[in-house]
Amino acid sequence: MNIKPFAVEEWMNAYEDGARYNIAETCVDSVSLDELFLLAGEDKQAFLERFCARRLTYGDIVGSEALREGVCGLYKSLKPDEVIPTHGAAGANYHVFCSLISPGDGVVSIMPAYQQLYSIPEAIGADVWLMHLRQENGYLPDLAELKSLVDENTKLICVNNPNNPTGALMSRELLGRIIEVARSVDAYVLCDEVYRNLTQEDGWCESIVDLYEKGISVSSMSKVFSLAGLRMGWIATHDKQALRAFLSHRDYNLISCGMFDDAVSALALRHADALLRRNRTIVRENLAILDAWISENPHFYYTKPQAGTTALVYYDFDVPSYDFCKRLYDETGAFVTPGDCFEQPKSMRIGYACDKKTLEDGLTALARFAETLG
Ligand SMILES: Cc1ncc(COP(=O)(O)O)c(C=O)c1O
Repeated sequence: MNIKPFAVEEWMNAYEDGARYNIAETCVDSVSLDELFLLAGEDKQAFLERFCARRLTYGDIVGSEALREGVCGLYKSLKPDEVIPTHGAAGANYHVFCSLISPGDGVVSIMPAYQQLYSIPEAIGADVWLMHLRQENGYLPDLAELKSLVDENTKLICVNNPNNPTGALMSRELLGRIIEVARSVDAYVLCDEVYRNLTQEDGWCESIVDLYEKGISVSSMSKVFSLAGLRMGWIATHDKQALRAFLSHRDYNLISCGMFDDAVSALALRHADALLRRNRTIVRENLAILDAWISENPHFYYTKPQAGTTALVYYDFDVPSYDFCKRLYDETGAFVTPGDCFEQPKSMRIGYACDKKTLEDGLTALARFAETLG
């Protein structure tokens, strides 16, 4: 299967390790196991002793009960047998497309978004239609456009809420209207929810699974729980036919997700509230820093994110985004992601949920670099 290069991941792979100020990262400031046990208030020694005594079999094939119950705690209406653990959300998205989509199926996807959501179905041979999120609409889907893109061939509508890269957040009402369109053609809605709950305002953040019988939620431990190193994600849906397809494909490419990752994820999910409290504080304090910086730096402008960990920041220099970001990196060590990775020229994606000092130093370097451009 031929597939387009994954622009954002290729960029991260090439430069992330050498970055002095990494303000491209999208996870909320990752934690170590030591920090996790401290935050959770659990006994690390007891956990490790229990784990070290276990034989390393494949473990629970479909994930431990503790893990799946922990995932259910993040939703209103989900049951453990409706959760399919995967290798991260990246594995989950890939799995959804490979399990449900055949050549010739209609798929509607948003742009800009994480590239998996349109390049994988395209590689499978689906007819992919893009729904463009525009700055003048606050990067929210235009329902008239969505209606014009669906027909009886549409199998799947893909969205990402909150959105990477823009930080836009769809309300329950808007999700409801997308569901009406999906229901009119009996399509699934895949919602990539890896940044769910990382909101700027308190309040319940709706999942597609709690709103639509053919809703499919994808998420993971990486962003909201700062544990990307576990490579643990999941698919959640009430739809029995989709669940059967996911389990069948999973036997071919996964078997199970690994006992250690399962056990640590289950422990972290038992303390989801504590982790979420930490991470909401980080995204709120750090977005205030970025927002102040934007207002002090007239060459840059953006639509302030409502949620997530990323912002799409435009500049008024006549420099293509790859050149801008590469020169910034070479001359200052500050690392951001070119907007062209998301087909958004003259912009960059800033990940603002890193540690505060890195964010401040990275933004200072960016302002200094802008001075050299005039
Ligand atoms: C929208 C979105 N989905 C999925 C992923 C992959 O996340 P994971 O680490 O869980 O595989 C990312 C990572 O950046 C993302 O931004």
